[in-house]
Amino acid sequence: MKLCVIEGDAVGHEVVPAAVKVLQHVAPDISVHSAEAGWDYFQQHGTSLPASTIELAIECRAVLFGAVSSPSYPVEGYFTPIVRLRRTLQAYANLRPTRYLPVPTAREGVDLMIVRENTEDLYVGHEQTTDGGRTSIAEKVITRDATERVSRLAYELAVSSQREKVTIVHKANVLPQSDGLFRRVALEIAEAYPEIMTDELLVDTAAYWMVKDPSRYDVILTSNMYGDILSDMAAAWGGGLGLAPSLSVGEGIAIAEPVHGSAPDIAGKGIANPTATILSVAMLLRHHWRNIEAAKQVEDAVYATLNEGNHTSDIFSSDSISTMAFTDQVCSRLT
Ligand code: NAI
Ligand code: MG
Repeated sequence: MKLCVIEGDAVGHEVVPAAVKVLQHVAPDISVHSAEAGWDYFQQHGTSLPASTIELAIECRAVLFGAVSSPSYPVEGYFTPIVRLRRTLQAYANLRPTRYLPVPTAREGVDLMIVRENTEDLYVGHEQTTDGGRTSIAEKVITRDATERVSRLAYELAVSSQREKVTIVHKANVLPQSDGLFRRVALEIAEAYPEIMTDELLVDTAAYWMVKDPSRYDVILTSNMYGDILSDMAAAWGGGLGLAPSLSVGEGIAIAEPVHGSAPDIAGKGIANPTATILSVAMLLRHHWRNIEAAKQVEDAVYATLNEGNHTSDIFSSDSISTMAFTDQVCSRLT
């Protein structure tokens, strides 16, 4: 088995090597192959995602992606490589779990999974500016096919992980066509799973409940943009962005990627929390390579490391340890 490793930019260069080190402890037979993407690469080579990286990702069928820095203003020729990679590989569902971890910043009793559609919505990136720069229009794309496959995956996951409820999140009151289609198709798929409870919420109300009482959620099924925002909110209950993993999955292909970005404010200091990336690798082991034993070993080692009070400075600053010292603590708990 092969893994295509893309560090990306900034903290990607710190958290990805940490997670690879953990992976090599539990699955030494997996061969690791490096590839480039990101803003730094774009500035040197004029593309943020070279064809060689896409080819390697397709060949390996498994990718570990750190994070990249994307400017919040238009740059000729630049596109966000992770969004493009998810679409190119048709890694159509992004699984974002939030589960209590033993750190003071986490909330006990939270155990939810956000299943986010990963290939369309506003993230198709069709924007245009007219009217001499006074008007900008972004296209929101929702299709029956993409909604069907992500909905089916959410319900299958609910069944296989013994969960009870799927909450469909949309804004169909304001967008009765696009979000209305997402809602209708998701409810159609729900009919095939009578053993799973289904409810629905408008996204603003869903955000309110995410803050007020996150334990009301089990599985959340939603479109790309709402899933992006709600999962960062959920990450706060899991202890923070430094602890939030994710896995983008398609047909026989998967991308492990922490929820957080490139964290330029802390990059280069060796203090980033590697937990999100390490747990993303555990998701790759569990859901893609089906190596449940190794996945559990990694999850248990992370839990034990945190439980004994080891932490990086994002959790709290006193007695914090470095990215690599934390990683070594995790590795020392692996057989
Ligand atoms: P961010 O997630 O990079 O950082 C938000 C806050 O969380 C910062 O204070 C940061 O220090 C902290 N943080 C994030 N990861 C951490 C970790 N592992 N350990 C400790 N603290 C951590 O989001 P921000 O600042 O909005 O974006 C920075 C850049 O990242 C932008 O250029 C953005 O486009 C990019 N980004 C990339 C993503 C990706 O490649 N998948 C996802 C989200 C943002
Ligand atoms: Mg995000």
